[in-house]
Amino acid sequence: MAKSSSAFTCTACGAAHKKWAGRCDACGEWNSIIEEAPLSQGPGRGLGAHKGRAVPLSNLSTTEPPPPRSRSGMEEFDRVLGGGLVPGSALLVGGDPGIGKSTLLLQHAAALSRTGRQAIYFSGEEASAQVRMRAMRLGLADAPMRLGAETNLRDILTTLEAERPDLAVIDSIQTLWSDTIEAAPGSVAQVRASAHELVTFAKRRGVAVILVGHVTKEGQIAGPRVVEHMVDCVLYFEGERGHQFRILRSVKNRFGPSGEIGVFEMTGSGLAEVANPSALFLSERGQPIAGSAVFAGIEGTRPVLTEVQALVAPSTLASPRRTVVGLDPGRVSTILAVLEARCGIPFAGLDVFLNVAGGMKVVEPAADLAIAGALLSAREDSALPPEAVLFGEISLSGALRPVGQAENRLKEAQKLGFTQAILPAAQKVEGQAGMAQRRIADLTGFVGEVFGAG
Ligand code: TYD
Ligand code: MG
Repeated sequence: MAKSSSAFTCTACGAAHKKWAGRCDACGEWNSIIEEAPLSQGPGRGLGAHKGRAVPLSNLSTTEPPPPRSRSGMEEFDRVLGGGLVPGSALLVGGDPGIGKSTLLLQHAAALSRTGRQAIYFSGEEASAQVRMRAMRLGLADAPMRLGAETNLRDILTTLEAERPDLAVIDSIQTLWSDTIEAAPGSVAQVRASAHELVTFAKRRGVAVILVGHVTKEGQIAGPRVVEHMVDCVLYFEGERGHQFRILRSVKNRFGPSGEIGVFEMTGSGLAEVANPSALFLSERGQPIAGSAVFAGIEGTRPVLTEVQALVAPSTLASPRRTVVGLDPGRVSTILAVLEARCGIPFAGLDVFLNVAGGMKVVEPAADLAIAGALLSAREDSALPPEAVLFGEISLSGALRPVGQAENRLKEAQKLGFTQAILPAAQKVEGQAGMAQRRIADLTGFVGEVFGAG
């Protein structure tokens, strides 16, 4: 391919450039420009060269039933997908190396095959013997799924074309290579071309395809963002090192709600499903201690209780530490600023450590009150009532704002033995007996009510 015939495109904004540059001057993104092979310039190109065919149009009211779904029986996985795999859908499962993606997908493919569906697992990173050994250890050796060790895209597509399984797992997209692209496996061009061919195949033949993708240090699935745009569903498999919990989170789902999570525990014999994550995330609780607050959260469609833990200690540093794990650091800074400006409680000169127990990540603004509660409790060295859960969003004025799904939050808390909720005064709650509700208008009120100070 002659150099002059290639084009350069920014993977962030899509701007076209004549030559490569370190920074896209259209959107300002660094290192986002890649070289692309141009579209073929054959004689058939251009409008008017062909008479296109008329596309059949339809209206919005349709009597088509919802897509049939294949449930694998692995409940946590099925729920994250919105009720099971949709035939012909393409999924991307991303995660750090070693987090358990191969284990998860092997278990899922095996479970699906046990329901009578055809599943094929292509491994590009491990030999078949290795995968078989793992399957044996996981107690899956008798599952009627099939394995292939292959990285050549053409061979994989030929096999799939002949077999037409219900599910094909490609582990991983970074190991695939297509001989029609002159680039190394794992390069942007290869990953994109391979993903495109597999997604097209999935749609054409009604085969569900799951692509496994490694995540780079920056937290993105290696390769261009376009892979995320191509697939119907993007799942992240995450967990903290040193914790046995793993969370499968849907960040995009064309066939179901996104934001749904499935919780697993990595054990000696593979991933075990955790049907009641609240109990698990709270199980580390003992005596009431200062700096701990229980947040009644919602993850996807399910209420999950988590424990926010804070430690506040005098700092010897000119700019004290703000170490935050499992929460949005920007959100925490805002809450610290509101506590200081609206309640006159300074954190200057104090190191602050905040963390969510169990390696869980909490992104809901509804967690604000629990974060403030943990911070205040740590700073005042005074425990919050151990039978209470907290939720509510804090505005910059210090006022507490109501949040969604209060009933579900309270129901879950009650189920786990909590008897009291600290929540925004303006929160509407429909029919919830058995839970005492301490309603609070703003942060100053919270400090007074809970810690007995003004
Ligand atoms: P793996 O699925 O290979 O991760 P990935 O495909 O995301 O790179 O899982 C690797 C880790 O999981 C490995 O460090 C060992 C651990 N593991 C267990 O703890 N128990 C098990 O039963 C299995 C199969 C793996
Ligand atoms: Mg793997």
